[in-house]
Amino acid sequence: MPKQIGYVIGSLRKDSINRKLATAMTRLGPTDFTFKELRIGDLPLYNQDQDHAQAPEVQRLKSELRAVDAVIFFTPEYNRSVPGVLKNALDHASRPYGQSAWAGKPAGVLGASIGAVGTAVSQLHLRTILAYLDMPAMGQPEVYLHVKDGFFDESGNIAHAETKKFLHGWMDKYAMWVKKLTG
Ligand SMILES: Cc1cc2nc3c(=O)[nH]c(=O)nc-3n(C[C@H](O)[C@H](O)[C@H](O)COP(=O)(O)O)c2cc1C
Repeated sequence: MPKQIGYVIGSLRKDSINRKLATAMTRLGPTDFTFKELRIGDLPLYNQDQDHAQAPEVQRLKSELRAVDAVIFFTPEYNRSVPGVLKNALDHASRPYGQSAWAGKPAGVLGASIGAVGTAVSQLHLRTILAYLDMPAMGQPEVYLHVKDGFFDESGNIAHAETKKFLHGWMDKYAMWVKKLTG
């Protein structure tokens, strides 16, 4: 059964290493999976007063989310947590109360950082939020990437063979897990 995977990038930076990671990872997906970015960069700042008159950008995110089978998050770590732009998107699509578009979507969590911690703390915070949003998150393997020069090759693929093999393994396991959960 083909599956559509939405992915969210927690960085708006043009040269984001998490965006590069997302591009490289989607190339490792199985042929019956399609990947679509769920854009979050144009969402307004969340304001609870607008819960019952959500902006068109928020409505777009929610309808795109409802159309996908599962979601992958590629997140940087900002000050030992998730970037505000990602939290803003999580909050928007969780509202109004009882009408969250995240609920039940199986989640994959990966992150890349120039810091040695490799987004571990950010991912831990994200996993806490996903649990509250009722999104099952694949536990293993964890993907904490410390990105240095040469991590991506000129075509935007993962340059190091062992790392590429590990990430391919992650994608294979994620695909099987999503199929198991979504039928
Ligand atoms: C506001 C801010 C806070 C940051 N805090 C952390 C941090 O807590 N841990 C870390 O490993 N890197 C931190 N960094 C460095 C990021 O890992 C680095 O900027 C990375 O390239 C961000 O991901 P991106 O390339 O996808 O935008 C921070 C960067 C910024 C701009």
